[in-house]
Amino acid sequence: MDEWGSLVNSILSCKRCRLSEHRKNPVPGEGDTNSRVMLVGEAPGEREDETGRPFVGAAGKLLTELIESIGFKRESLYITNVVKCRPPNNRDPEDDEIKACLPYLLKQIELLKPRVIVALGRHAARTLFELGGLKWVNMSSMHGKAFNAVINGVHTVIIPTFHPAAALYNPGLKDELRKDFEGVIRKHIEEAFKAS
Ligand code: URA
Repeated sequence: MDEWGSLVNSILSCKRCRLSEHRKNPVPGEGDTNSRVMLVGEAPGEREDETGRPFVGAAGKLLTELIESIGFKRESLYITNVVKCRPPNNRDPEDDEIKACLPYLLKQIELLKPRVIVALGRHAARTLFELGGLKWVNMSSMHGKAFNAVINGVHTVIIPTFHPAAALYNPGLKDELRKDFEGVIRKHIEEAFKAS
């Protein structure tokens, strides 16, 4: 079995934290494992827990539409979450749950070597900034900007933006999210594809 296969198997049988007690299905991630572009959300929600796939509920629909609106196919990128199992009632993941799950995200980054990582929401952004040794301030001042980072020896660019679920019911945030996708995110994804 290749390294991706054994990584997925470890996630599917993981019992490193309490989230394993309530989940229906762990959600390792999906997409092109040869892609140099990674999108990272917070944690699976109800639909993701039922299907074992990331971003397939209402927030996922918006995310897919944003990706397509800037000229890419969702399957040509790699999509995952900081935490691979659904927190009960979609509560925020706790620090020890994030910590327990980090080796999986680090391994995904090591294998994919993404040139760009889009951090969806503040939990993903804060976690990725910490992994890259950068100081996280807040989403309102940092979204839509590109930050150079080295994570697990991989030189990459982190772009924080709003979480699609937060944008669903907030037209102002949705506009900002759309602008981030149409601007800096599109530019960096195009560059990552050209360089590949
Ligand atoms: N929200 C997330 O952060 N991730 C998903 O996979 C779905 C909703």
